[in-house]
Amino acid sequence: MRSSSYKYLCLLNSSISTPLYFTFFLLHLTILVTGDSPQPYLPLDNIALNCGSSSEKYVNDTNWTADINSKVALQDSGSIQSTVHDQASTNPVPYHTARVSCSKFTYKFPVTTPGPKFVRLHFYPASYPGFNRSKASFSVTTGRYTLLSNFSGVHYTETHGARGYAREFILNVEDERKNLSITFTPSPHVADAYAFINGIEIVSMPTNLYYTAGGMKDFNKEFNSDPLQKETALEMMYRVNVGGAEITPPDDTGMFRMWLSDIDYLTDARPSAYQYNDTIQLQYNNDTRYAAPDELYRTARTMGPDAINAEYNLTWEFPVHSTSTYFVRLHFCQFIPIVLKKGDMISKIYIANQTAELNADIIDWAGGNGVPIYKDYPVMMHAGGIEEFQNLSIALHPSPNTFSFDDAMLNGIEIFKFRKRDHLSGTNPGAYQDSPTSTTPPCATSSKPKLVVDYILGLQFHFIVILFCYWFS
Ligand SMILES: *[C@@H]1O[C@H](CO)[C@@H](O)[C@H](O)[C@H]1NC(C)=O
Ligand SMILES: *[C@@H]1O[C@H](CO)[C@@H](O)[C@H](O)[C@H]1NC(C)=O
Ligand SMILES: *[C@@H]1O[C@H](CO)[C@@H](O)[C@H](O)[C@H]1NC(C)=O
Ligand SMILES: *[C@@H]1O[C@H](CO)[C@@H](O)[C@H](O)[C@H]1NC(C)=O
Ligand SMILES: *[C@@H]1O[C@H](CO)[C@@H](O)[C@H](O)[C@H]1NC(C)=O
Ligand SMILES: *[C@@H]1O[C@H](CO)[C@@H](O)[C@H](O)[C@H]1NC(C)=O
Ligand SMILES: *[C@@H]1O[C@H](CO)[C@@H](O)[C@H](O)[C@H]1NC(C)=O
Ligand SMILES: *[C@@H]1O[C@H](CO)[C@@H](O)[C@H](O)[C@H]1NC(C)=O
Ligand SMILES: *[C@@H]1O[C@H](CO)[C@@H](O)[C@H](O)[C@H]1NC(C)=O
Ligand SMILES: *[C@@H]1O[C@H](CO)[C@@H](O)[C@H](O)[C@H]1NC(C)=O
Repeated sequence: MRSSSYKYLCLLNSSISTPLYFTFFLLHLTILVTGDSPQPYLPLDNIALNCGSSSEKYVNDTNWTADINSKVALQDSGSIQSTVHDQASTNPVPYHTARVSCSKFTYKFPVTTPGPKFVRLHFYPASYPGFNRSKASFSVTTGRYTLLSNFSGVHYTETHGARGYAREFILNVEDERKNLSITFTPSPHVADAYAFINGIEIVSMPTNLYYTAGGMKDFNKEFNSDPLQKETALEMMYRVNVGGAEITPPDDTGMFRMWLSDIDYLTDARPSAYQYNDTIQLQYNNDTRYAAPDELYRTARTMGPDAINAEYNLTWEFPVHSTSTYFVRLHFCQFIPIVLKKGDMISKIYIANQTAELNADIIDWAGGNGVPIYKDYPVMMHAGGIEEFQNLSIALHPSPNTFSFDDAMLNGIEIFKFRKRDHLSGTNPGAYQDSPTSTTPPCATSSKPKLVVDYILGLQFHFIVILFCYWFS
């Protein structure tokens, strides 16, 4: 007879938001993150640029270098440094300073080796002195990739509140001269458009972290299951620590990735159960060594008491663009002390309502209890009617082939969007639709390029004077 006799840390109602339990859990987690962590990865390239700033800032284990006189070459025509005035509750570094321009500008980062890099672009959409935030509209390109287009930055803050945030990309630097150039271009079709950027991070990663490891498991027949091609760039959409608390960049495995809690994405859990094991010695292999922090593999979510597990799918849903292709990575580590053998817990995994795994057996995949493992799946989203967004669902269900426990377990989820070279993938929502009559300086119409420069110089002067007054008043 099958039974789930292992202990549940705490159970959540299907309403999910049980603050007391969750708070308890978070407190508990804080205490148990003290195990002997292995050495984090040391990225050869680890650049954090605080755009618009003139002084170095050491914050949260990161040296944010100043924009001025740094090793980064800025090729610009008329861009200015700026400081935001409506300093809402957002981190000062890198969000309170920015580089703002009505004309195109390029940062050139020297990198030590070619290969895959994290590129994080930090934005805090605000009205910088002289620039109305409703006129922010620009593209960001690097090499042959368009990372963002028609971008204003406001879409995110409308749904998440006014604060700074990062868009993260992964791309391969192939330039033999070892340069990574990032160009910001105001939208030509928007009157008085300007571009801005608050911070840029360039962080290298192990070459097998996302690109050459394993190869992808092809389950929807529209892919060959090759490993990720080097010319494919990725945009990070979601990165969650399932069944655990958020993991902040300093606590990542050295690459400053942010892992959110899964609670906001859990849509069917009646009830699910948190699992954790703070004492187990995790056994990494070369592929999983830096894949995710210990804390992610030491925490998980399972379906809960088995009586009703056959009746539902433990489900997470993530809003994504229709018609795009995604790369889904699922992280697993079986650490429940009594789930030790192949066959003890077998589950089904559905991704986007298709069967991704009929017989998912973590112990069988990993080779034992306490061994982290991940699986990669390409997912093609089909145009779902007229909707621009759809939910990409990840659902777990016990398999009828299981020997001991009618249950399923997951430790982490990462979802990336494929970004093909030379391909302007998806419009970026958020371009403010303003009446074209509201032509506020300084970004004069493109028919008068000379004026633009003059105006900027004038503005800069104005700005410096203001600053001067602030300092000495
Ligand atoms: C930050 O920069 C300072 C001075 O450049 C250096 O002494 C320090 O080691 C750096 N810290 C890190 C974590 O890189
Ligand atoms: C450091 O990081 C934490 C977690 O992301 C954040 O809450 C805090 O505000 C950061 N501190 C600064 C000074 O940016
Ligand atoms: C920015 O522009 C919008 C619409 O064009 C206007 O309503 C708003 O007052 C402007 N804000 C500032 C700070 O000028
Ligand atoms: C970056 O490219 C420029 C030419 O565009 C070249 O002069 C410079 O040496 C390159 N930087 C490095 C680190 O190779
Ligand atoms: C963690 O795993 C180890 C090894 O399997 C086991 O001995 C220990 O009891 C587990 N602890 C918890 C809290 O499950
Ligand atoms: C892991 O990498 C190390 C160093 O590159 C190598 O010596 C070792 O054989 C690798 N182990 C496996 C299991 O591939
Ligand atoms: C999968 O099915 C659920 C309903 O069970 C639906 O809400 C969801 O949008 C579907 N997802 C996809 C990607 O088709
Ligand atoms: C679980 O999800 C799959 C795929 O959407 C669906 O076919 C199946 O009926 C669901 N099972 C239950 C019990 O809801
Ligand atoms: C995605 O799922 C969430 C939560 O169930 C729901 O609120 C939202 O409307 C769904 N979005 C779409 C496009 O179906
Ligand atoms: C940007 O917006 C303009 C006008 O709204 C549109 O014509 C253009 O196709 C958009 N560009 C991209 C790359 O979506």
